[in-house]
Amino acid sequence: MGTTAERENLVEAIAERLATVIDPELHQNIVELGMVGAIAVDDSGLATVSVALTTPSCPLRDQIERDVRGAVTSLEGISGLQITIIAMDPAAKAKLMDRARRGAQEAAPVTSIPSSARILGVSSGKGGVGKSSITVNLAVALARRGLQVGVLDADIWGFSVPRLLGISGPVEAKGGKMLPKRLPVGPGELRVLSMGFLAGEDQAIMWRGLLLSRALQQFIEDASWEDIDYLLIDLPPGTGDVQMGLARLLPRTELVLITTPPLAAQNVAARAADMARRGNLRVAGVVENMSDFTCEHGTSYQLFGHGGGQRLADQLGVPLIGSIPLDPAVVLGGDSGHPVAGTDSALGLEFKALAERIATQIAPTGVVEGCSARMLDAIEQAVATS
Ligand SMILES: Nc1ncnc2c1ncn2[C@@H]1O[C@H](COP(=O)(O)OP(=O)(O)OP(=O)(O)O)[C@@H](O)[C@H]1O
Ligand SMILES: [Mg+2]
Repeated sequence: MGTTAERENLVEAIAERLATVIDPELHQNIVELGMVGAIAVDDSGLATVSVALTTPSCPLRDQIERDVRGAVTSLEGISGLQITIIAMDPAAKAKLMDRARRGAQEAAPVTSIPSSARILGVSSGKGGVGKSSITVNLAVALARRGLQVGVLDADIWGFSVPRLLGISGPVEAKGGKMLPKRLPVGPGELRVLSMGFLAGEDQAIMWRGLLLSRALQQFIEDASWEDIDYLLIDLPPGTGDVQMGLARLLPRTELVLITTPPLAAQNVAARAADMARRGNLRVAGVVENMSDFTCEHGTSYQLFGHGGGQRLADQLGVPLIGSIPLDPAVVLGGDSGHPVAGTDSALGLEFKALAERIATQIAPTGVVEGCSARMLDAIEQAVATS
């Protein structure tokens, strides 16, 4: 087929078509992302395209291949298409992640959350591991350091923050913005928003489907979060829509993963991978909850096994920020609306130490890495060897 000039035109046409292929995770076109390598067309009209993925085993590989095929094969003059998937070198990978990060930041909506505020999403693959308890206690411990701490209860269906903090609605508004409820704590203050302030338990059910799909967005965009130093977000269990929404609305969120000692490594790794992949969010570290139980005689029991937090942290290549023991004081504090972190009990001091580590040792970084990056590599390795 055709002259050299015709083949060159075809190569150009292929490049144009490839610019319409959007990376499903990074939401930008693969040419702009630097994922397209050599393009060639031979005498018979057979086209070859090389696509660089950050990891060749990227779960989105099939979809990207399909999209590339769909974009290219309908071109006139092309008799066939051969796609070669290659692995990106580390420098290109870093550049791509940087680009994706900037893209996400630019696309994120404007909020009143100060750019200096650190946003931590408290998350877990599994329900009932203590996300809400850790969120409120950590918030109280940070406020006791003299900080203004926003607490966003993103568990729209199963909110528990109002009860845990002993506060209730309604929420006031000013200038069209919801005013988070203020709760002074020592030299600092909490600013709290929850679905529980907008509707009683019964009413909340009626609201389903109406406003709930937008509730998180409203809590982020239509609320006054001025002057906060931290925003802690209590996420619902799992890796569903709320996590995805958060990734879109606040892409600079760092996840704090809560786990309990016994969770099977592979299971947790797979869920964490899913979360990171789908949300493209960075993991700041792991907190192990319900670790050793110490009885009144001072004997320590590892009721639920040992080492789950460290194992998960190692698998993800992130720090284990701390371990919180199994202690009825957490439950009592929750039931009374006075989190134990507000006291100077032994457990109160554990939360104090946790807050201190987060504030001073766990460096905030803006690294966002997707399916294709370091985090998944680490998890794949861990899963393969476990
Ligand atoms: N360290 C702890 N020691 C003892 N009990 C705890 C501890 N942490 C949490 N709990 C208790 O475990 C239960 C579940 O905790 P919590 O509601 O915080 O979990 P969650 O992960 O937010 O749950 P969900 O997934 O339903 O939102 C609560 O009754 C809580 O009081
Ligand atoms: Mg909860």
